[in-house]
Amino acid sequence: MVVRPRLRLAPSLLSADFAALADAVRAAEAGGADALHLDVMDGHFVPNISFGPTLVAAVRARTKLPLDVHLMIEEPLRYVEAFHRAGGDTLVFHLEARSEPAEVVRAVHALGAQVGAAIRPDSPVSLVAPLADRVDQILVMSVHPGFSGQKFLPEVLPKVAAARERLDETNPKADLSIDGGITAATAVDAARAGATFFVCGNSVFSGGPVDANLRRLRAAVEEGGRGAVR
Ligand code: DX5
Ligand code: ZN
Repeated sequence: MVVRPRLRLAPSLLSADFAALADAVRAAEAGGADALHLDVMDGHFVPNISFGPTLVAAVRARTKLPLDVHLMIEEPLRYVEAFHRAGGDTLVFHLEARSEPAEVVRAVHALGAQVGAAIRPDSPVSLVAPLADRVDQILVMSVHPGFSGQKFLPEVLPKVAAARERLDETNPKADLSIDGGITAATAVDAARAGATFFVCGNSVFSGGPVDANLRRLRAAVEEGGRGAVR
């Protein structure tokens, strides 16, 4: 039997109030978040600009939770060191970006950090499969990157299942992350397809108490996880 990582929830700070980030971090911790997800956007790889290493360092100073840094930028290789220094634990880069993927993986591991390889909703899983044996995370995006609060794209679920199969064969301890439009409803489907790491923005920070929101999501991923295909 393959032993997969435990199911984890990573609230995305992109949906929080940037003027009160410390409160959001505290609320996520109190609600039992397993990690925090930080979305870095450069205005080139995606049509939006968010923040850089300075903000990651400010969050790092406020929490011991693992920081999952999602680099939606054209040249991840140029910036992995800065984001590692800022306190990122896992640096997730896109395979559609300009840097050579194998080089990014090597560079991040040489820094002593964990590396994640991400694909956009319109990219085939064959883009990420060759790296499955040497990354710490595969991230399948379930919205077009750039903004929080979008609707989950169910057509990515077969890709989650395919990535799951590949990881089970070659690297079962790696995380399979799903990012975009995760709610209590879509989390069940993603967990059933084999996701283990759930990024959630609006469903955590855009209405209602953060701890209750996280409890609801936790119940959903556990339910889906019980039905996961093995
Ligand atoms: C989108 C980001 C996501 C986003 C998630 O480009 O990568 O992490 O913030 O937010 P929700 O859960 O609201 O889709
Ligand atoms: Zn993200």
